Amino acid sequence: MAEVDKSLFKRYELPQLPYSLDALEPYISRDILDVHYNGHHKGYVTAVNKLIDRYESILKGDVTSYDIQGIVRGIVFNLNGHKLHALYWKNMAPADKNRGGPGGVLADKINKQFKSLDNFKKILLETANSLPGTGWTAVTYDSETDNLNIITIENHFMNHIAELPIVIIVDEFEHAYYLQYKNKRADYVDAWWKLINWDDAEERLRKAINRA
Ligand SMILES: [Fe+2]
Repeated sequence: MAEVDKSLFKRYELPQLPYSLDALEPYISRDILDVHYNGHHKGYVTAVNKLIDRYESILKGDVTSYDIQGIVRGIVFNLNGHKLHALYWKNMAPADKNRGGPGGVLADKINKQFKSLDNFKKILLETANSLPGTGWTAVTYDSETDNLNIITIENHFMNHIAELPIVIIVDEFEHAYYLQYKNKRADYVDAWWKLINWDDAEERLRKAINRA
């Protein structure tokens, strides 16, 4: 098979994990992080790049029989999978390095809108635990209303409202917890709360506010 000329679109790369594979223990085990990062996330990057190869071949007329809907759907799935995982890794930190709670603008917004951090945690975790099947739960910022919104994202892309930057996110695919927590997803979500990188969340919120 002729080598694909990769001249039209740049390809994606697996970003470096911002900590070691065992850095999130005991809340997220080394085994999970290894499979999740080196298996699943890398798989999304490989898959989206292969689909882009295919897409380029079509555009150049090298391939004349294809399922464009399937290719585009695959790109959306795998590209969102890649982007959300890159965000999820940075959005967590080892429990002894994550400051233990929000500060700055994020703390002000949480207190104003949710009355207390406890209330925010309660609603965020209830939302995460209500997600049917597979997906993500995220806190987004809407510059139009100056609100933080708690949303669920089914699969890697359904319900994600365009133009709302993500401030906090938790992966709820089974691959994120099953090796350690089995079917007790709520226990994983509870443990994840202890790993939120509050500095990263604050930075994301400030960028979202400044770009509005
Ligand atoms: Fe994942």
